[in-house]
Amino acid sequence: MSSLANKQILVGITGGIAAYKTIELVRLLTKAGADVQVVLTEGAKAFVTEMTLQAVSGHPVRSTLLDPSAELGMGHIELAKWADLIIIAPASADFMARYAQGMANDLLTTLCLATEAPVALAPAMNQAMWKHPATQTNLQTLISRDVAIIGPASGAQACGDVGAGRMEEPVDLFKAIEQLLAPIQQDLAGQHWVITAGPTMEAIDPVRYISNHSSGKMGYALAAAAQARGASVTLVSGPTQLDAPQGVKRIEIKSAEDMLSACREAMVKPADVFIGAAAVADFRMKEVASQKMKKTGDSDEMQLTLVKNPDVIATLSQENTAKCMVGFAAETQDVIAYAKSKLERKGLDLIIANDVSRTDIGFNNDENQVTVLSKDQQWTPPKESKSALAIELVELITQYQSTK
Ligand code: C5P
Repeated sequence: MSSLANKQILVGITGGIAAYKTIELVRLLTKAGADVQVVLTEGAKAFVTEMTLQAVSGHPVRSTLLDPSAELGMGHIELAKWADLIIIAPASADFMARYAQGMANDLLTTLCLATEAPVALAPAMNQAMWKHPATQTNLQTLISRDVAIIGPASGAQACGDVGAGRMEEPVDLFKAIEQLLAPIQQDLAGQHWVITAGPTMEAIDPVRYISNHSSGKMGYALAAAAQARGASVTLVSGPTQLDAPQGVKRIEIKSAEDMLSACREAMVKPADVFIGAAAVADFRMKEVASQKMKKTGDSDEMQLTLVKNPDVIATLSQENTAKCMVGFAAETQDVIAYAKSKLERKGLDLIIANDVSRTDIGFNNDENQVTVLSKDQQWTPPKESKSALAIELVELITQYQSTK
């Protein structure tokens, strides 16, 4: 039986072209046995009709706060209490702004304020609107209030732009809702997971450095997913824009050498799992200049002498610091073959390979598609958001551990 059976889900729809996809989401939810009620904002009515959503949800659809006949059936506070979960899909920039401000100027914002149930938003808007500092500030406010944010995905937009702001597909929203409502087992309680994430930053002189485009999102998502299952998680992170996931111990480092020392320190007592999700710089300066380097002389060229960095994961693997060692392999060609050779060379249990030549996944993207390899097995989860993928990867690693 689906974890959604008999769950009471309130689906809010705001004004945006992605609203037509929410009809499919409502259908998936009701098919799984959930009891679904739909609330539309005024803007949503320009994109979908009350009649359609009434037909797929099997309930009258509400859109106004001060509707005496609807209030007679179920008052808005009662409706807010009825919900086990509220999902707003699509959530427009305007809705996010009003919700972040605590406004209650229509039925949907009022319900969001009045509910004590978890609230999830699937933002959808033009990429420039999504990137706008006002939207990003509202987003951070909502995240800090534990509103779950699903997506948005990146890609081609209805307006012709390309970028982040597409609503996640109904099937992905459905999966995310299932996860939000599923009781999370605490089966990793008592385990210690150490995860590296983000880029390293290798100093050239006091103001310059060598680094890469890693956002840290995959490692942070893995840390959150392992923590949610009860593991005690140490996240050794290079510089990123991300907040440490709740309940995770974050150690911030800059260079590869610092990353290695911090990991060794965290695993004086061997960890249960080590995941190397960081994009560690392969080289660092032989000598870091103590003063800012000057462009002296007439030469148009300059040479930096670099030396190899320690391979963090290979070193830790040799030192047996964790019972299960998991690495990543970002490749641009022959992905599986190269990943397999890394698995062996670095002495790993599992390697998670991804093709970074694809622009729709991997580095700095919200989505990822990977293949997980062990010595003799291979798994390919579907392309999905990094947070959904992280949950699957933690599950795969846990299953692998139990067969070791
Ligand atoms: O060799 P490559 O960089 O492709 O290997 C990727 C894996 O090795 C990742 O898990 C990465 O975190 C880890 N790595 C490391 N230290 C390095 C280079 C890579 O831990 N110096």
